[in-house]
Amino acid sequence: MSDWTECLKFGINLTKQTSEIILNAFKQQKQVHLKSSQADLVTETDLRVETILKSAIRDKYPVHRFIGEESVAAGECVELTDSPTWIIDPIDGTANFVHRFPFVAISIAFTVNKQMEFGIVYSCVEDKLFYAQKGRGAFLNGEPLNASGQEDISRCVVVTEIGAERDDLALSTMTSNIFRLLRIPVHGVRALGTAAVDMCQVATGGADAYYHIGMHCWDIAASSIIVQEAGGVVMDTDGSPFDMMSRRVIAASSTAVANRISQVIQAFPCRRDDEDQCRCICGGKGVNSV
Ligand code: IPD
Ligand code: CA
Repeated sequence: MSDWTECLKFGINLTKQTSEIILNAFKQQKQVHLKSSQADLVTETDLRVETILKSAIRDKYPVHRFIGEESVAAGECVELTDSPTWIIDPIDGTANFVHRFPFVAISIAFTVNKQMEFGIVYSCVEDKLFYAQKGRGAFLNGEPLNASGQEDISRCVVVTEIGAERDDLALSTMTSNIFRLLRIPVHGVRALGTAAVDMCQVATGGADAYYHIGMHCWDIAASSIIVQEAGGVVMDTDGSPFDMMSRRVIAASSTAVANRISQVIQAFPCRRDDEDQCRCICGGKGVNSV
């Protein structure tokens, strides 16, 4: 059995180095392009960071494969094979980045035989490095992470996201899901604007659960192993096993809380990330300065 610790260390160092580009650009004015909707944003920094990450990894590990958000937006396939694969979101929280709302992360997951080997989420403005390796625990800036273990939904802080979908069905489903949770009642519902960092809050025990419909595999792949290695559980919103391509996830402190959320919320239809393998969502729908 291979030990991927060297890859993890390489990934962590590369993530930290590359985050300087995001931090330098954070306070500058950005050229903003639209992708799948008026709320799905991309900047030159997203593209640059993904290019740098992929090229550094390819130099070191020439046979490894990639699934990267901006490469997929440009038409590359979402195809998870048995080969070692780096799943990259160069900036998770691009809308936050554009508005200087201080939660933006580089998210990198690494799979072999379609199984997650490690995940790295670096919330760069906060300088919080979350990472986990299969069977070896989860860490934040070197300190071990533990999910809360909470089993009572009525004592939970639940994190979710509204996402970039703006059609009536998606919006009404998402808002009524929040309504149903608040009516239980849970202690609170939160949203940071980055799925990767949201989900890591479950690993820290600061939140007890997270659910989301409509995000993509690059948003949550890395944080899924971080939650599991911290003792939490991840599953599909319909209660079936977690499938990073399904665009639905619940992460929770306990199976009891995950099951209860699964009973309370509803999903709206989303195309799987790997449904049609090659697609281009970068329609050049507009350019704005923010
Ligand atoms: C988005 C963020 C956001 C979530 C969206 C994601 P991006 O990723 O994670 O919190 O609600 O569904 O697409 O576009 O900033 O990488
Ligand atoms: Ca992104």
